[in-house]
Amino acid sequence: MPTRQAIIVEAFGGPDVLHLITEETPALEPGLIRVAIEAIGVNRADILLRTGAYHGAQPPARPGLEAAGVVVESRAARLPVGSRVVIFGHRKGLYVTEAVVHEDEVALLPEVVTTTTAAALPVNWLTAWYCLHRLIRLRPDDTLLIPAAASGVGTAAIQIARHVGATVIAAASSAEKLAFAARLGANILVNYAEINLLEALRDITENKGVTAFLDTVGGQTFADGLKALAPFGRVAALANVTLEPSLINVRDFYPKNAHIYGFQLGNLMAAGRYPEARTDLEAILAQVANGTFQVPIAATFPLAAAAAAHKQLESRTVMGKLLLVTERY
Ligand SMILES: NC(=O)c1ccc[n+]([C@@H]2O[C@H](COP(=O)([O-])OP(=O)(O)OC[C@H]3O[C@@H](n4cnc5c(N)ncnc54)[C@H](OP(=O)(O)O)[C@@H]3O)[C@@H](O)[C@H]2O)c1
Repeated sequence: MPTRQAIIVEAFGGPDVLHLITEETPALEPGLIRVAIEAIGVNRADILLRTGAYHGAQPPARPGLEAAGVVVESRAARLPVGSRVVIFGHRKGLYVTEAVVHEDEVALLPEVVTTTTAAALPVNWLTAWYCLHRLIRLRPDDTLLIPAAASGVGTAAIQIARHVGATVIAAASSAEKLAFAARLGANILVNYAEINLLEALRDITENKGVTAFLDTVGGQTFADGLKALAPFGRVAALANVTLEPSLINVRDFYPKNAHIYGFQLGNLMAAGRYPEARTDLEAILAQVANGTFQVPIAATFPLAAAAAAHKQLESRTVMGKLLLVTERY
């Protein structure tokens, strides 16, 4: 049996609970492929999993929701050995040097898209794309609020929204993060560490409100965003970074005939929505391949240094995406 290296969490805790082990690679059955992994996306969900805050997870737990590499063994006709693929919607942990995944869980990479770029797409970009196109149904006449605009989801959402032609109000906690958001196309910038977000939105929109809101933060930001929503506004809520409750008044949204959508990629995939997710991922890959979308990679770490990557993501200083890379990279 081939062997692989994998990062596992034997007991919940700080970054140092991430342990590198060597183990047998799972067996290949019909419909499965073995992928030599080159790059792995690091996500906040991996931190939640590591700390025990992720939706019912129990140790031993395996972090890693997205990765890209090359098929080295195949029992799926459409994916011959040598195919370059990105893995999405796989829930058995992708902090590994080799993954055995179902053919439904991969998309083929265009020649010009590197595995490091591709590994950054399935969580943040798919989430931003799905929420903006399929839920909010963003239009060119929309004014869209994006908090945590320099984050992984934020940097994707800015570009997707600007490609639609919408006006983007980017909010973030530092001037450096806002300058980064501006370089990606954000139109209006709000430093919510220095000024009150709600008051700023009232001034910016001249009390009309924002017509769309992608809530990448949760907690009080969700409550403020609802207050700032225009009539018939649409909201997609997908996060709660602070893990704090949102204290809301229903009057902040029902009189506005607002639409509020919840989104969680993991549960979408658990419900078997692979075809639509692959359609969206392929659309994103095409725009990356033709240069429309830039995928900002903040830093890469060796797989064995996953703890350092987690520490960096927890520092709230990251702009764009963190990746782990294997020796194949
Ligand atoms: N539902 C889903 O399927 C789904 C998919 C992808 C991501 N998510 C969630 O969406 C959120 C954004 O994801 P991401 O990968 O873009 O995250 P990220 O890169 O780690 O960024 C998180 C951002 O949240 C902001 N933030 C606000 N309050 C914070 C606090 N108390 N501590 C730390 N950060 C705080 C920070 O930006 P500022 O400093 O500018 O405020 C930070 O950069 C995460 O909560 C993630 O779990 C959900």
